[in-house]
Amino acid sequence: MFDCHCHILPGIDDGSKNVQMSLAMLDMEVRQGVEGIIFTPHFYADMNSPSTFLRRREKALIELEASLDQLPHVPAYTVGSEVHYFRGISRAEGIESLCIGNSDYILIEMPFRTWQPQFIDEIEEINAVLGLKVIIAHIERYFDQDKRLVKRLLDNPNFLIQCNAEFFLGKSYNHAIKFMKSGRIDLLGSDSHNLEHRRPNLAEAVAVMEKKDKKGALDHISRVSRRIFEAAM
Ligand SMILES: [Fe+2]
Repeated sequence: MFDCHCHILPGIDDGSKNVQMSLAMLDMEVRQGVEGIIFTPHFYADMNSPSTFLRRREKALIELEASLDQLPHVPAYTVGSEVHYFRGISRAEGIESLCIGNSDYILIEMPFRTWQPQFIDEIEEINAVLGLKVIIAHIERYFDQDKRLVKRLLDNPNFLIQCNAEFFLGKSYNHAIKFMKSGRIDLLGSDSHNLEHRRPNLAEAVAVMEKKDKKGALDHISRVSRRIFEAAM
């Protein structure tokens, strides 16, 4: 089990507030059987340049690493970012530096306002022009957007699709299972931010998925996750 989207790094975004909270979140991940984690703090272009963001991320990581010996077991981890879509993203300087580890995979958070076709054009350009491998974060949050635009993302074989554990754990359960059966989920994330209402919860979702997974959806997710981890190292 791999958590490919979380806000566990301390003090860098609206996720973990400090090192102690990060350690407790990591401990929860380990207890759930998570073997690998990608730390993906929010990147907002109107708040930081990529270089400033990377300095802040490095500082947060060093702080966390200094205390990791307090944990009985540390999962494998690498760093990335959750890059919030902005106009001009496909031409922005340094955008490739926000990829996961040493890989060319980049996690993109689409806007929550009404989608325009240009948004999708730009995401396609990130892939076609910059040559980066786009991962669309928590696709389920966008299912009420223009269906044709969502379909453009889902139908593009160059895009990886990530879902949050939460999709499987509430009112959206039926929809989530149906979507899982479509075979289009490539990655899972807890998108955890804290120890309360947005805590690490990957194992709960996987338990629910296992009961309905007849076509190897979880195996596929494991394979894709491993591929990204290997590319990141
Ligand atoms: Fe997130």
